[in-house]
Amino acid sequence: MRTVSIDSITREFIKINSESGKAYQIISFGAGFDTRLFRFMDEFNMNIGDLKYFELDFNHIIEEKRRIIDNKVTLKELSHPLRLIPFNLNEKFYNEILGNDFNPQAPTLIIAECCLMYLTAESGDNLISWTGKSLNSVTFCSFDPILSDDLNSDRFAKTMLNNFEKRGLDTKALLEYPSKQSTLNRFLNHFPVVDAFTMLQLERDASTEFLVSKQQRREVSIKTALDEYEEWNMLADHYLLVIAKK
Ligand SMILES: C[S@@+](CC[C@H](N)C(=O)[O-])C[C@H]1O[C@@H](n2cnc3c(N)ncnc32)[C@H](O)[C@@H]1O
Repeated sequence: MRTVSIDSITREFIKINSESGKAYQIISFGAGFDTRLFRFMDEFNMNIGDLKYFELDFNHIIEEKRRIIDNKVTLKELSHPLRLIPFNLNEKFYNEILGNDFNPQAPTLIIAECCLMYLTAESGDNLISWTGKSLNSVTFCSFDPILSDDLNSDRFAKTMLNNFEKRGLDTKALLEYPSKQSTLNRFLNHFPVVDAFTMLQLERDASTEFLVSKQQRREVSIKTALDEYEEWNMLADHYLLVIAKK
């Protein structure tokens, strides 16, 4: 659900902008070893127009990704829109970090897929605020776990929080924005239009078929082949996709 829904947003963005002949950009915060650019270069037969695809992550991740790409001819061929930027997102963010190819006037898609959860609440707020202020036309797409407004009455969220803490994750940001509503409000401080869907909604609600079609739901269901839905439902209800637009 996570990949299919973010892919739908990305595909639509590339479709609309690749034919315009004008520059456009995707910025992926905490991109890690994500392969979305390569998959879409392949899907669009490299006809993606004037796209710049910025990926930001820690220096050691970026260096390793660069090494992998440099050692594989096919990846190197598909990577010409890619700008790999080593950066600690807990530090102050400003336009120049993205280099000369960044254009604040160009239509922009931001992807923060399981990234904001690792940042301090303040750094995440600053990134969201920078995006809302600095970019002319932007869609911010984030995907992260959520807990609950009332941890005492949600044992699944409590266990999730304990698991994150056991793994040494700083959970202050999660506790500051623990629910769907508080996350919506976080983005509404900086964007005029914000929608949010839990992974459970992405799997079942007719209102989210523009992100995950009936056919894709069937395919995921066949691949996962679950016969016990109770735990999946609880898990899926604790992950949230946000789509904020300006
Ligand atoms: C769970 S991974 C998600 C990777 C990718 N977005 C995906 O969905 O496949 C989180 C990524 O965020 C990066 N990250 C976490 N904290 C960061 C920070 N302060 N600055 C830059 N990157 C960070 C990690 O290095 C990691 O690559």
